[in-house]
Order: sequence, then structure tokens, then C-alpha cells
Amino acid sequence: MKLLRRIFFPLWKISARFWVSKGIKEEKEPIRKVASALKSSLKKKLDIEEKLWRKNIEQLRQELKQNEQEIIVTDFGAGSPKVSRSPQEMYTGIVNSTTYSKVVKASKSPFWSLFLHKLIREFQPEKGLEFGTSLGLSAAYLASGMTINGKGKLITMEGSLSLVESAIKNFTKIGLINIETVQGRFADNLDKVLTENNPLDFVFIDAHHDKDATIGYFQTILPYLSENCIVVFDDIRWSKGMKKVFKQIIETPQVRYVFDLKEMGVCILGSEQEEKRIFRV
Ligand SMILES: C[S@@+](CC[C@H](N)C(=O)[O-])C[C@H]1O[C@@H](n2cnc3c(N)ncnc32)[C@H](O)[C@@H]1O
Repeated sequence: MKLLRRIFFPLWKISARFWVSKGIKEEKEPIRKVASALKSSLKKKLDIEEKLWRKNIEQLRQELKQNEQEIIVTDFGAGSPKVSRSPQEMYTGIVNSTTYSKVVKASKSPFWSLFLHKLIREFQPEKGLEFGTSLGLSAAYLASGMTINGKGKLITMEGSLSLVESAIKNFTKIGLINIETVQGRFADNLDKVLTENNPLDFVFIDAHHDKDATIGYFQTILPYLSENCIVVFDDIRWSKGMKKVFKQIIETPQVRYVFDLKEMGVCILGSEQEEKRIFRV
């Protein structure tokens, strides 16, 4: 899988550049903004503030990569594409002894993290929600984008107490004060989080890649999303189930713009009077 990614990712980047050159000229603002976020991520075009935050977050990633200390993690997720977990296992969680260096491998790569940061810079959301904090790297990219914007708060949810404690330390270390970390199973916290943070302008779903769970989360958040909310789904090709999830989400009437970026899927809501546009990059 890793080898395939190493071969195909540079090729994808080339095709993405072609799409960007067309997308940037589109009449509709949301399309231009996604194209612009992708363009600056591909070209690593960052302003001074963005460079500074990125340097600090990537330094943290390097420290975590070298940290062989043990950490006991409780995982309420779907496991791996090969070994699917039962609903009971996902409910009680799987306790696992691992190391920081291993946990950090599941974080979004510097490229995709930068893309998330750039989406935040382009769309300027007031309220963001992340499913799956882990050690806090993608959350740091999202929240630092909001810090530079001068507005916005991120709520990030994580089941494992040990990861929440580490993530909070990491946010403090790099100086982020606009993140609220919510510990516990998503299903147990979602209603409260949604009522307290209505409406959401940005959602990143990077956890629990189970078909029914993901569809359920999307249906639950839908009434709490602002008119032009951006919802980013990670790992849309992780399993057959996740491929079906993304197909179903594309068909949701409120979803107006869809950007299938192979690894991630970006959906933007809008009025049902507007034409639905789907871009396969
Ligand atoms: C892929 S990691 C998140 C990585 C992170 N977004 C990043 O890029 O740095 C997914 C996380 O979601 C958490 N998780 C999975 N299913 C969950 C659930 N049902 N409730 C709460 N947390 C869950 C796992 O413990 C794991 O830490």
C-alpha cells in the first residue's frame, strides 16, 4: 500500500496541477477557493505566519516520530481495511500498548495537513469540528489557520484518554488556545457538541471508517451545518464500505460541490437550486 502510494502520489500531484489551473478560473467562488488551497499546497506557497506555524508543528511531528515511549491507547475505531471489527468491539474499544512513534504514523501527512490549513485560510470558518484528534497534528494545522485568520474555534473529539492528554500538551507546547478537546466515544458526545456549537462551518472526519458509523455521523451533523459548510472526509477509498459512504454522501441533496481528491473527499453544501458539480481530481 505504502509503495503504491509512493508511486501514484507524485502522478496524482501532476494531474492535480492540471485541475488546479482550470479550477482557479471557475466562476463559482467555492470551486476557486478549493483550487487555490490545492494550488498553494502543491506549490508549498506559504506566507510568513503560515511558515512559522508549519515549522513548529512539523518540529513536533519529528519529536513524536522519535519518541519510543510506551502509550496505552483505547481505540473505538474500525480497525484496518483487512480486519473489520464487530459493533461490540467498536463500542467497548480495543486497548493497545504502542509507542508515540507508531501512533504518529496515522496522522495526516505534511501535504494533506497543509491542504487542510489552506482550506481554513480560504474559507475562514467560525466553528470547526474534527472527528479523531490522535496526537493533535491535523487539529494543530486547522486551528493555526484559524489563529492566522484572527477568528475561529476548533472542537476536536478523541476517544482515547491518553491521546487527549498528549494532544492537549502538544497544543499548549505550540501555543494554540482556540481548540476545545472532547474526550470519549463520538456517539456519546456528538449531540452535546453539536448543540453547543451550532452552526458548524467546517468538519473534518478522520476516524472510525466504518460504513454505518460514518453515514450515521454525517446524518447527525447535517442539521447543524451552516449553509455553505465544508465537510472533509478522509480515506474515502480505505475500504469498500468507505467507497459506498462517499457515493451516498455525494447524492445528499444539500451537497452542492464535491472534490474527489482520491485520498480525501471535500464536500461543500449549498442551495438545492444550484447545479451540483462533481470534480474528480
Ligand atoms: C487517524 S487518527 C486521527 C489522526 C489525526 N486527525 C491527525 O491527522 O493527526 C483517528 C483517531 O480517532 C480516534 N477514534 C476512532 N474511532 C473513534 C470513536 N468512535 N470515538 C472516538 N474516537 C475515535 C482514534 O482513537 C484515533 O486516535
